[in-house]
Formats: sequence, C-alpha cells, structure tokens
Amino acid sequence: MSITPRPPIPSFIPENAPFSPEQRGWLNGLFAGLISLEEGGITPLSSERAAALLPDLLGAPKPAKEEADDGAPWHDQTLPLAERMKLADGKPLRRRMMAAMAQQDCGQCGYNCQDYADALFVKKEQRLNLCVPGGKDTARMLKQLHQELGTPPAPAPAPAKRAIAPAPASIIGCSRDKPVQATLFSRERLNKPGSAKDTWHIEIDIAESKIEYAAGDSLGIFPANDPPLVEAVIAALHAPADFPIADRSLRDVLTDGVSLSPAPDMLFQLISYLTGGDRRLKAKALASGGDPDGDAATVDVLAALQKFPGIRPDPEAFIESLDPLQPRVYSISSSPKCNPGRVSLTVDAVRYEVAKRARLGVASTFLSNRIAPGDALKIYVQKAQHFALPADPTTPVIMIGPGTGIAPFRAFLQERGAVKAPGRNWLFFGHQHSNYDFFYEKELVGMRSAGLLNRLTLAWSRDADEKIYVQHRMREVGRDLWSWLADGAHIYVCGDALRMAKDVECALVDVVAKHGVRSADEAVAFVAELKRAGRYRQDVY
Ligand SMILES: Cc1cc2nc3c(=O)[nH]c(=O)nc-3n(C[C@H](O)[C@H](O)[C@H](O)COP(=O)(O)OP(=O)(O)OC[C@H]3O[C@@H](n4cnc5c(N)ncnc54)[C@H](O)[C@@H]3O)c2cc1C
Ligand SMILES: NC(=O)c1ccc[n+]([C@@H]2O[C@H](COP(=O)([O-])OP(=O)(O)OC[C@H]3O[C@@H](n4cnc5c(N)ncnc54)[C@H](OP(=O)(O)O)[C@@H]3O)[C@@H](O)[C@H]2O)c1
Repeated sequence: MSITPRPPIPSFIPENAPFSPEQRGWLNGLFAGLISLEEGGITPLSSERAAALLPDLLGAPKPAKEEADDGAPWHDQTLPLAERMKLADGKPLRRRMMAAMAQQDCGQCGYNCQDYADALFVKKEQRLNLCVPGGKDTARMLKQLHQELGTPPAPAPAPAKRAIAPAPASIIGCSRDKPVQATLFSRERLNKPGSAKDTWHIEIDIAESKIEYAAGDSLGIFPANDPPLVEAVIAALHAPADFPIADRSLRDVLTDGVSLSPAPDMLFQLISYLTGGDRRLKAKALASGGDPDGDAATVDVLAALQKFPGIRPDPEAFIESLDPLQPRVYSISSSPKCNPGRVSLTVDAVRYEVAKRARLGVASTFLSNRIAPGDALKIYVQKAQHFALPADPTTPVIMIGPGTGIAPFRAFLQERGAVKAPGRNWLFFGHQHSNYDFFYEKELVGMRSAGLLNRLTLAWSRDADEKIYVQHRMREVGRDLWSWLADGAHIYVCGDALRMAKDVECALVDVVAKHGVRSADEAVAFVAELKRAGRYRQDVY
C-alpha cells in the first residue's frame, strides 16, 4: 500500500538561491529530513545528526574548489543518462564526464566511474568507449565532452596492438589488466523445463590460479564471440579469414578482440567514406546518432555490413573502427570458505531476436553454452567497493534479490553459516514461476530448517494473474521489516537496476513511513541516512 500524502513541506531554499529547480527540490527534501514535522510544529534534529546528514552545508571542512560543488548526486545507477547530465549541469568538466558513466562502478573498464572520468580529464586515458553498461550513449556523451578538453582523442590503436591501461590494482587476478587462467568446472541449469528463463549455476576451478575473493565480490570474465557470428561477419566483409591483423588473423581478432554487438559510430563513419549518394548520407546520419531507418538501437556489426551491401572495407581499417571486446562481471554466488578452489556464478543467458536473427549476449552465452567443462577461460576478481557483510557478525541482514540478484546472497549465507555468525538472516527472493524458477530451492530450504536462514519470503510474478514482486511482499511484512531495521539490520539489494531497485527503495520508504510513523519526507530522509551509514547497499545492474 502507499502512504497518505502529507501537505507539501515548506521550502527551505530561497527562490533566488543559485540552484536549479531539481537541485532546490532535492535540497528541500534533504532539509525536510533534518527536522521532525510533528503535530505541534517543527523539532530540529540534534546538531550531530544534522552534521552527519549534511556535512558540506553545515560547515564541515570543504574539499578542493572543484569538488566543493557536488556530492555526485548523479552517482546512481538507476538514473538515465539525460537525468544524470542534468544533475551535473554547470559542474566542472571532469564531474560531467563522471556523470556520463553508467555509475555502476563495475570495473569492466578497468576503473571505477570517477577514476575513468579523471583519467580522461588528465589525458592519461584516451579511449572513450570503455563503459560497457553505458554503451554507445555514454561513448557519444564522452566524445562531446572530450571536445571541451581542446584536443581530439587519439585514434584507438588496433585491438591486436592495443596498449593496456595501467592497472590500478596490480595484484595478479585482481584487475581486468591482470587476468588469470581458470577452468570451467561445471554448469547446471537452475530453471526447470517449462521456464521462460535460461539461468545457469556455473562453477569455475580457480585452484591453480591462486586468486582470492570474498563474499560480495564479483568475477570478471573475458568472453569470446559466437563462432557462427564471426564467420557471418567475415563472409559479409568478403575478406579472407586469415587476413593478417598485426600478428593475428582476422578470424582470431574478430573472435576475442572486438565487440560485434552495437555497431559503433566509427564503423558508420568508415562506411560513409566507402559509399556515395544516399547511402553515404545514411551512414553519416548513423555515425552521428541519427536513426534514418528507425533501427539504430538494434544494428549490430553484422547488420551494419548487411545494411550497406557490397562495401569492401580494408579488414584492418574495419577492425580499427570497432570497439574492444570488454570483459563482463558477475556477482560471485559462493563463499570461499565453503568452496575452496572454486568460485560460482549465477548467469542468465541473454538471447533475443531482431529481424528474425537470434542475438546472443556475448558473455552470458559464452558461459552458458559455448565453453565446456575443462575449457580454460580468463578471469579476474572485481573487489566489492561497498557490498560486503557487516563487520559485526551479530548484525541482522535483510537481503532482497529477485532473479539472478540472489547470487551474492547465496555467498553471504554460505559465509554466515561458515563463520557461525549469530546475526539473523532474511532473504526476499522472487522470480516468474515457483515451479520452474526457484533457484537453489533445496539449499535455501535446508538453510531454513538448519536455522541459518531465519526468514525466506518469496514472490512469484507469473504464478497468478496479478504480478507479485518482492516489493509487494516487503509491504505485506512491513511491520517485521521495520522491527529488524530498528534492531540495526543492514539491507542489501541485488538485481535489475532499471526497475526493481527503484521499486524496492520506494517500498522501503513506505514501510519506514507506515511502521516507523514518519512523514513521507522523513521516511525518504531515513532511507537516505541508511545509505549514508552503509546500512543500505545496492549491487544492481
Ligand atoms: C556488478 C554486476 C554484477 C552482475 N551480476 C550478474 C549476475 O550475477 N548474473 C547475471 O546474469 N548478470 C549479472 N550482471 C550482468 C552481466 O555483467 C552482463 O551485463 C549480462 O550477462 C549481459 O552480458 P552479455 O555479454 O551476455 O550481453 P551483451 O552482449 O552485453 O548484450 C546485452 C545487451 O543486449 C541488449 N538486449 C538484451 N536483451 C534485449 C532484448 N530483449 N531486446 C533488445 N536488446 C536486448 C541490451 O542492449 C543489453 O545491454 C552483473 C553486472 C554487474 C555490473
Ligand atoms: N528487456 C530488458 O532490458 C531486460 C529484461 C529482462 C531482464 N533484464 C536484465 O537481465 C538481467 C537478468 O535478469 P534476471 O534473470 O535476474 O531476472 P529479471 O528479469 O530481473 O526478473 C526477476 C524477477 O523480477 C521480476 N520483476 C520485473 N520487474 C520488477 C520490478 N519492477 N520490481 C521487482 N521485480 C520485478 C520479474 O517479473 P516479470 O518477469 O514477471 O516481470 C521476475 O519475477 C538483469 O540485469 C535484468 O535487468 C533486462
């Protein structure tokens, strides 16, 4: 249920203060959290609590001039690019560059979002196309912002020769620039026959690699493209598969050096040089973000070649126009204490169709289809920035992870069991059908009977006519949720960033408002404070 709206909060920020309407609204919301609106009037919070909430505005030491202006409100994976850029409007260039990143701090580019932006700003990094989750939109925005630096970005070297960015963490196996070799140990489908989903429990043998990880970390995987797709691209290019590119063959570079997914602007630019008339105009439009045929969002490299039949780009120039094939990261779903020498993942195979051609997510289908047990793969551990169990093992934890979002929570539960942590554990899991999509059912039921999992709350979205999601369940058990929070529980959310994460946060705000007897704005401020205190953590993608 939703909470009854209250009369609007008075404005704390003068109309002539130098803030945009969004910033003013945001600050008013924050100030609203600094006070308790009670029947009889306004009770200010203690100065300690106020200072903890708004250190910058209340006189805490300010960082250097460039930094003093933000707090990076755009650093939120659930915000679309346009909104993030709006929040960064008027900020120094490197902050706007940071806002252009997808804000996942996923490390797939070799940096976190802020460090990637800083590296571009100080010109230590030239590549503008490294943000995997941000895709073409981020690359385009960075290209636009990069022009403000005054020098055009250096053309990217061919993938075969591409220099590797300096690794921030140079421990072997701990960054994308120092991967290690591991072996696929086993693979088991987690959905039962009849499911619309195709999700896999993947076990990887890391005994030889000597890498270490902790519950909450993710694993980076270097995938390879689907061989039939590579062959189709070679055929469309009319080039010999063994055409030499640096010291490799065209086929090899197409297999593991470049992305064959969204066709990059540079490819259309190259095509525009090789065509004339209307075809050149079309290629130019596509190269600059236009959408002449209404299909720009789904044109991959093969579709781009097929759109301009008969072109014969030089294979080396063609390869140089493509984006590098990036690693993908997956939440680790095991604790090293329970599975020494192994690491496990929970991977949903991405498959869809465009214009009657099957499209495959490169890494998820590499893991779930193309490699076999015993095959080698390159991996690295992506250390969790903030997604770890509480240091105090007595702290209760609430874990909300529908779909593949369950992955880190299986690791957390294994870890809490292995160290015999006395704190209570509550898992919210949801998926489409109870009969087909109850991942790790036996294990979870076992943990429940063993007393490790104190509560298991399930939400099946397609068992009944009406959708039931985890956030509906959170509202139903709001009283208990609030009581766990009052006992100091930490909350973790993992899974879909675009829809689920936002809805779960709204549900939590509603629970806090209803059972914590707070106004809507106070509840928002309460949840914001949970985040600041490290008691509300998200690992969403
Ligand atoms: C920190 C973190 C943890 C993660 N943990 C997990 C995890 O535990 N399990 C897991 O499965 N994933 C996880 N992911 C997501 C994972 O990294 C990959 O993004 C995902 O597997 C897809 O990668 P891919 O290479 O298979 O697909 P890609 O080749 O990258 O293709 C995906 C792209 O295809 C397009 N697409 C997808 N579906 C459609 C559609 N229906 N119609 C049109 N276009 C579509 C979209 O543009 C999408 O971005 C995590 C991501 C992060 C950042
Ligand atoms: N088209 C897309 O862009 C698309 C589609 C699916 C998944 N994904 C991505 O694929 C990855 C893996 O997905 P997954 O296998 O983990 O499963 P998922 O698709 O995230 O689904 C898991 C469960 O969450 C439900 N769900 C859907 N919307 C929700 C919401 N707003 N709040 C709460 N629950 C919601 C789903 O229900 P219903 O399916 O019944 O709605 C399902 O029961 C995620 O990154 C996800 O974002 C993308």
